[in-house]
Amino acid sequence: MSENFGVFGTAVSTAHPSLALIKYWGKQNIALNLPATPSLAVTLDCLTTETHVEISRPVDGEEVSDRVFLDGILQREDRFAPFFTGFRKLTDKMKPGMGRFVVTARSSSDFPTAAGLASSASGFAALSCACTAAVGLELPAEELSAMALIGSASAARSIYGGFTRLDAGSKAAVSVYGENWWPEFRIIVLELEKEPKNLSSREAMERTRLNSPYYQAWIDDSRVLMERSVDALGGRNLDALGPLIRNSYLRMFATMFAADPPIIYWKPGSLAIIQFCDRMRSDGFSVWETMDAGPQVKLFCLQNDVPAIRNRLIGEFNNLNIRICRPGGPPSVRGRIET
Ligand code: DP6
Repeated sequence: MSENFGVFGTAVSTAHPSLALIKYWGKQNIALNLPATPSLAVTLDCLTTETHVEISRPVDGEEVSDRVFLDGILQREDRFAPFFTGFRKLTDKMKPGMGRFVVTARSSSDFPTAAGLASSASGFAALSCACTAAVGLELPAEELSAMALIGSASAARSIYGGFTRLDAGSKAAVSVYGENWWPEFRIIVLELEKEPKNLSSREAMERTRLNSPYYQAWIDDSRVLMERSVDALGGRNLDALGPLIRNSYLRMFATMFAADPPIIYWKPGSLAIIQFCDRMRSDGFSVWETMDAGPQVKLFCLQNDVPAIRNRLIGEFNNLNIRICRPGGPPSVRGRIET
């Protein structure tokens, strides 16, 4: 709790990461953080970020700055500054009498941060929900999504449960289907390493945009993949959706490998899982892998195949942390105004 400031309001929010089936990679507008590619994603019920926010009134004349702690560690101010600028614009408009305030946020996740498990998605979604609740604002999901996007574009999708889409150039994500749309749909999250990545997805995206000769082809192709995937998802057809999921992540990485210097998030263990999935498909299982900006691999399959896939994974790999997820719900939030 603050010692020197009067507390205006507090809130706590939990949110889940948004795992892309069709990937966002590259920005159309850096200042506004607008994506260059459309993405289609599922919210994961088995991974959670919890964020506590306190909004305080600074003592007159005192210079203060917003602070965000992740697992107790104070984060770089510049990573959060655009988000808090956006939040202040909103409060100026919707709570004009609020006056000066400062935000302190404390966040922790039950999975590794910045390691390719979409912690920025659940993190900025929870932060958006907690900040608005702590000042007594109840926003429609699309406005919360627009706020979360300023922090991280994938976070715009985490504002919704179930299946979501974020279109190229769009300021907010929209819901495609709720979390009960496809009850048999499962996501197996395989955690190979806990260490944070040494190149942020933000820097990596920018390098790809600036000097990968395949960047434009990636953008053009993702539009096609997106529309086909929405159709396959609508038909709950994993045999049609799976190859599109695979095209999307491999084509995203192809643009990264072609950058100069190349961007390589894969580890030997990642490739071993990719080849495992290939063998499983040869044996008749519909299981489809994806990866993000880190070495972890996530598999999409149906409920009935989970026991066999899990047993084979345990038999073939050591030290693999296996989580079985379903499509998750939207963030939860509780807020209290003190004054
Ligand atoms: C590979 O949303 O983390 O996970 O908007 O710069 O914060 P910023 O990027 P971020 O990128 C996610 C990239 C991805 C694919 C995806 O989730 O669509």
